[in-house]
Amino acid sequence: MKLTLNSPLDMHLHLRDGKMLDDIAKYSAKSFAGALIMPNLIPPVTTIKAIIEYKERILKACNGEIFTPYMSLFFKESYTPEFLRDAKPFISAVKLYPSGVTTNSEGGVSSIDIKKLAHIFEAMSELGIPLCVHGETDGFVMDREKEFSAVYESIASAFPKLTIIMEHITTKESAELLKKYDNLYATITLHHLLITLDDVAGGLLNPHLFCKPIAKTYKDREALVQIAINADKKVMFGSDSAPHLASKKECCGCAAGIFTAPIALSALAELFEKHNKLTNLQAFASDNARNIYNITPPKKEVVLRKKEQTIPKEFEGVVPMFAEKRLTWSIEQIY
Ligand code: NCD
Ligand code: ZN
Repeated sequence: MKLTLNSPLDMHLHLRDGKMLDDIAKYSAKSFAGALIMPNLIPPVTTIKAIIEYKERILKACNGEIFTPYMSLFFKESYTPEFLRDAKPFISAVKLYPSGVTTNSEGGVSSIDIKKLAHIFEAMSELGIPLCVHGETDGFVMDREKEFSAVYESIASAFPKLTIIMEHITTKESAELLKKYDNLYATITLHHLLITLDDVAGGLLNPHLFCKPIAKTYKDREALVQIAINADKKVMFGSDSAPHLASKKECCGCAAGIFTAPIALSALAELFEKHNKLTNLQAFASDNARNIYNITPPKKEVVLRKKEQTIPKEFEGVVPMFAEKRLTWSIEQIY
C-alpha cells in the first residue's frame, strides 16, 4: 500500500534557534514543503528585522532542502496598522499568546480587550493577515480551552473579515465552534489525534507526552479525529512539534512540548489508513492549508509506504513522541 502526498505542510512548527535549530530543522525540511514557524523564541520575534534574520537562519539550517518557512510575528499590543502594513510582505500570520500560558509566552497579551486591540484586528483584516491564537485561559488545566471559547466568539463576530486560526485544538467543543463562524479555522496536532490524558498521566507519568494544551478525553480525541479524517476544510495539520532537550523533559518541572516532526507523516498515514480515509490525508496535510492561508508551497512529492519502522530513541538529544515504538508506515522516497 502506497500514498503520494503533494507538498505536505505543517502549519504550526517550533524550530527554535541556535544549535537546536541547526540540529532539528532537517527533520521538517526533508519531508515537508513548508511550515508556519512559531515566533516564541527568547526574545520573541516582534520586528521585521528579527523575522528576516530568523528566516535566514532557518533556511541555512535547512541545508538546501526544498522548504518554505512561512514566518509569524509574536503579537504585541503595541503593534500599529503602519507596522503591520510594512511587515505584511515578510509574514504569513501573527501569533497571539495570552501571557504565561505556555513555553516562552511571557511577553504575550495579559488581557484580551477587544476594544483596545480593535485597530490591530482591523488592520490585519484589511491586510489579509491571519491571526493565530493559543486559545487557553489560566484556569483549571482541563478547562482552559473551553473557557477561552468566549474570546474566539467575540473576535470572530466583531471582525468577520479576519481569518482566525484556533491553534492546536483539543476539545469536542472547539471542533463544534468551528462550524459557527465562517472566519474560524483550526490546526490539529498529531499527538492530539493519537493520545488522551490517560497516556500522559494515567499510568506512569510520561513527560514526553506533556504539552500545552494538555491532551484531553477520549470523546474529545474522537471529535478531532472525525474532522481531520473527513477532510473538513476548516482544519489543517499543524504538528506543534516542540523540541526540548531530554534533560528539560526528564526532570522535575518538565517543559511543555512534544517532538513529532520526524514521525509526523508516517504516523498520520497510519491513522488515516486505520480509518480507511487515506486519500483524505492530502487535504488535511496540505490542501486545506493552501486555501486557508492562500499560499502555493514549493513542489515536493513524498511517497509513503506501508512498511514497519521503529522510531529512534532520540534525535540530537531530543526524545520524540513514541520513542522506540513501531509505526506501520514509512517514508519511502521524496522527490
Ligand atoms: C510549545 C513550545 O514548547 O514552544 N509547547 C507546547 O507544549 N505546545 C508552545 C506551544 O505551542 O504552546
Ligand atoms: Zn506551539
